[in-house]
Amino acid sequence: MKICVYPGSFDPITNGHLDIIKRALKTFDEVYVAVLHNPEKEPNFSFAQRMKMVKESVSGMKKVFVESFDGLLVDYAASKGACAIIRGLRAVSDFEFEFQMALTNAKMQPRIETVFLMTGYKYSYLSSSLVMQIARLGGDVSDLVPAAVNKELKTIKKTERGK
Ligand code: PNS
Repeated sequence: MKICVYPGSFDPITNGHLDIIKRALKTFDEVYVAVLHNPEKEPNFSFAQRMKMVKESVSGMKKVFVESFDGLLVDYAASKGACAIIRGLRAVSDFEFEFQMALTNAKMQPRIETVFLMTGYKYSYLSSSLVMQIARLGGDVSDLVPAAVNKELKTIKKTERGK
């Protein structure tokens, strides 16, 4: 059984992330979507909100499991018996940080490979922070995020604009 872990802060999950999960399922038997409990920067959404949105977005996808993790990613991946960590690559600008992370993780846990999957060209420009910016300014992001996220973003927009 080939198990992979797809980690991230998912703040929030976008259609680009979902595209990567679907691609990972072509190669791996099970995908564990691992939501980082404590991202370094202040997240837009609470941990509970991020988990809820990820869970709702992948509901109905067989062989996809949503869990949280804290601490070292390689320790979590090893605890799941994963042979790979999946990361999506959009543009060359992603590469430097991803390369550094992959090498560091390989140093700590040589048994686990980092596998980079290219996001579909439709999503190559998409990021959680762009989605947040558009939503905060009242733009329509319904084509960019799963329905569960769009719903949550509407409440954020209302709260922030009401300030
Ligand atoms: O969605 P993101 O924010 O790009 O995901 C980054 C993530 C969660 C993969 C990264 O911050 C991470 O792995 N954090 C856990 C701590 C860790 O293992 N650090 C060493 C990796 S070099």
